[in-house]
Amino acid sequence: MNILVAGGAGYIGSVFVEEACNAGHNVTVFDSLVEGHRAAVNERARFVQGDLADRAATSQALKEAQAEAVFYFAGFIMVGESMTEPGKYFRNNVSNGIELLEACIETGVKKIVFSSTAAVFGMPDRVPIEEDFPKQPVNAYGESKLMFETLLEWYRKIHGLNYVVFRYFNAAGASASRGEAHRIETHLIPNILKVALGQKENCAIFGTDYDTPDGTCIRDYIHVLDLASSHLLALKEGVSGSFNLGNGEGYSVREVIDTCRKVTGRDIPVLEEPRRAGDPPRLIASSRKAITELGWKPAHPTLEEIVTTAWHWHQSHPDGY
Ligand code: UFG
Repeated sequence: MNILVAGGAGYIGSVFVEEACNAGHNVTVFDSLVEGHRAAVNERARFVQGDLADRAATSQALKEAQAEAVFYFAGFIMVGESMTEPGKYFRNNVSNGIELLEACIETGVKKIVFSSTAAVFGMPDRVPIEEDFPKQPVNAYGESKLMFETLLEWYRKIHGLNYVVFRYFNAAGASASRGEAHRIETHLIPNILKVALGQKENCAIFGTDYDTPDGTCIRDYIHVLDLASSHLLALKEGVSGSFNLGNGEGYSVREVIDTCRKVTGRDIPVLEEPRRAGDPPRLIASSRKAITELGWKPAHPTLEEIVTTAWHWHQSHPDGY
């Protein structure tokens, strides 16, 4: 199919682009490079540098790509920043998303696949989290993603635009050639691996007094290649709706650090710090719906495998792209 990938130069987007090219799709990447990296874009994809705020440029790119489906990865993702600069998040993740939706309608795109997040659920009172759990975001980032989910339903009703929403839990890991290279890195696994590489002295543990077995937060880590494979399934005729994507297994911050020690063979000193604002104690996905309805099957489900692929990538790209 002819597809346009907005945000295809970012971490998850660039891995998806690689897999979509491998699957034989005709891929155009549309990315502002504000967060993405030109070098992350697979050479088989066409690249257009542009901003979703610029509707004319977006429509032009969709027309030239003759796009039948659009993938929308181009979101800002820093939870902490969203609580100091909410306007940045609502503008990028909602307003620019509206421009993309309008451009899709204008150019006859049939389906949009949206990168949403577990953050739409806020602080759920039980796990595993099913798709129909209450949506109560506790930060502006999660709210911005939920707002766009709501918009998608209106555009489906009014314009007949099909959509698939994927709510990622904790994306991690790397493909052989593409990995996580955020300009400001807040995520746990890359920060631990920076310590293993000798680029940082220690890894902070944000909060050791949670109501969990070892007192640290529990998350469900999902391999970026498994996220990519779900997006390919979303292209199938008749597939629509919202899906949670995780492995259904939770690991505490201390367990992740121990796994990184085992994989890297390096000593990883830690620094216990106070809780980070807005961190839910436990986020674990139920992906039953994706497994039964899409036939999705994570190929790299173990934390050790996830960390091993990330470690290989960080070792071969110590300074990112
Ligand atoms: N953490 C540390 N030290 C660090 C970094 C993180 O202890 O240096 C802890 C966090 O406090 C949290 C856990 O490790 O308990 C995971 O933190 P990440 O920042 O890696 O990921 P989050 O769970 O906060 O957020 C990620 C994505 C969001 C998404 C969310 C949904 O970044 O975009 O998952 O679960 F919304």
